Amino acid sequence: MLLYAWMLFVETAPERYDLGMKIMTLGRIDRIKKIIADRIKPGDKILDIGCGTGTLAVRCMKKGAYVTGIDSSEFMLEQAMKNAKASGLEEKLTVIKDSATQIDKHFENETFNYVIATCSLGEFPKSYLEYIFKRVNKLLKKNGKIIIADEMQPEGKWRRLFYNIIMGILWIPQFLIVRRVAYPIKGLPEIIENSGATITERIKLSLTKIQILFAEKVN
Ligand SMILES: C[S@@+](CC[C@H](N)C(=O)[O-])C[C@H]1O[C@@H](n2cnc3c(N)ncnc32)[C@H](O)[C@@H]1O
Repeated sequence: MLLYAWMLFVETAPERYDLGMKIMTLGRIDRIKKIIADRIKPGDKILDIGCGTGTLAVRCMKKGAYVTGIDSSEFMLEQAMKNAKASGLEEKLTVIKDSATQIDKHFENETFNYVIATCSLGEFPKSYLEYIFKRVNKLLKKNGKIIIADEMQPEGKWRRLFYNIIMGILWIPQFLIVRRVAYPIKGLPEIIENSGATITERIKLSLTKIQILFAEKVN
């Protein structure tokens, strides 16, 4: 009953989704989005996979980029468009309601300078990620770049055990607040490199298992 009431409360106030993300990432989500947006140049064409409420898209559009956000949730995309309008940037944002596994249906090859995704790939099994990144590679222009920020599986037995205990405790608030549970991704650098890109940089954020991976298409 209490759970149901809380879910309804969250659904009627989508901005709480962003608050939920801040809590779940121990406040790191804003820093991650700033790091990513700082790389963006005016005129860049960006595909944001699992764009959610569009907070990263808005940061990138403020830098002069054009963003296409693809997300399977109508609710998230509505909020993304509201956020873009609130900043007067709605003309730079295109939203597509579909699954990330369908990205190649929507775009021509070599459309984007960047493909970005923050905290949205943990919901996919490895085989889906392999499929998605092969398509991402085709959609990137020459010298196109990939930036992915997500939780990655820690290396080492004891670190993994400690991490799994913490994740077990955080599972319930995460589900209540953001209504989804993401899992740490295993082997993402290999998946990206096998798709035809090179990892160029990796930023690890302290106290969380979130990493930001930067990669560039091998032309
Ligand atoms: C944790 S949220 C992250 C949102 C946003 N990237 C951010 O950092 O605030 C995950 C997003 O992925 C979206 N998502 C989940 N499964 C998806 C799928 N199969 N295809 C596209 N988007 C998906 C969800 O709707 C949600 O908006």
